[in-house]
Amino acid sequence: MKSLIIYCSDYKKNTEVIAQILADKMDSELINIRDVSDLDIESYDLIGFGSGVYKESFSPKLFKLVDKLNLAGKNVFVFSTSGVGMKFYNSRLIKILESKGAINKGSFACKGSFIAKDFTNKKLFNIMGRLSQGHPNQRDFKEAEGFIIRVLDSL
Ligand SMILES: Cc1cc2nc3c(=O)[nH]c(=O)nc-3n(C[C@H](O)[C@H](O)[C@H](O)COP(=O)(O)O)c2cc1C
Repeated sequence: MKSLIIYCSDYKKNTEVIAQILADKMDSELINIRDVSDLDIESYDLIGFGSGVYKESFSPKLFKLVDKLNLAGKNVFVFSTSGVGMKFYNSRLIKILESKGAINKGSFACKGSFIAKDFTNKKLFNIMGRLSQGHPNQRDFKEAEGFIIRVLDSL
């Protein structure tokens, strides 16, 4: 089985750490979206898409790429790191993938550290930022491994 992970991790490489763990566990190819030029996904049986969350959204670069891909019948999964670490940020991309005929095999999210003042003055984000420190951590790594094992089992 041939698999590929495409990710965007422009802030602190939090998502890259998770992408690497998933790729190791599933023996997958791994591409930072920065390095994507001509991407031929024809030969892959499973494709993972990951991003950090920036202002409530995955990177626009990932949406732009997905828009160009022929995903009909492809097995896919989606993952993210964010300050809150919630899976709801994955929903928009999952909907788009499904609308292109892809088969969603799973969704994973965990916290990724951030410093609130890097992007906002809102007080609430100071608290969120503090709670995110140290993530992704060993427990997040274990959960990521468990997630990818379940994805592989479902194929
Ligand atoms: C510009 C910017 C905007 C962010 N917006 C959000 C947000 O809306 N919600 C959230 O939960 N985290 C937010 N974060 C925190 C990031 O999602 C978190 O640090 C993530 O792990 C970054 O991933 P990366 O290091 O792979 O780029 C934001 C971080 C930055 C730098």
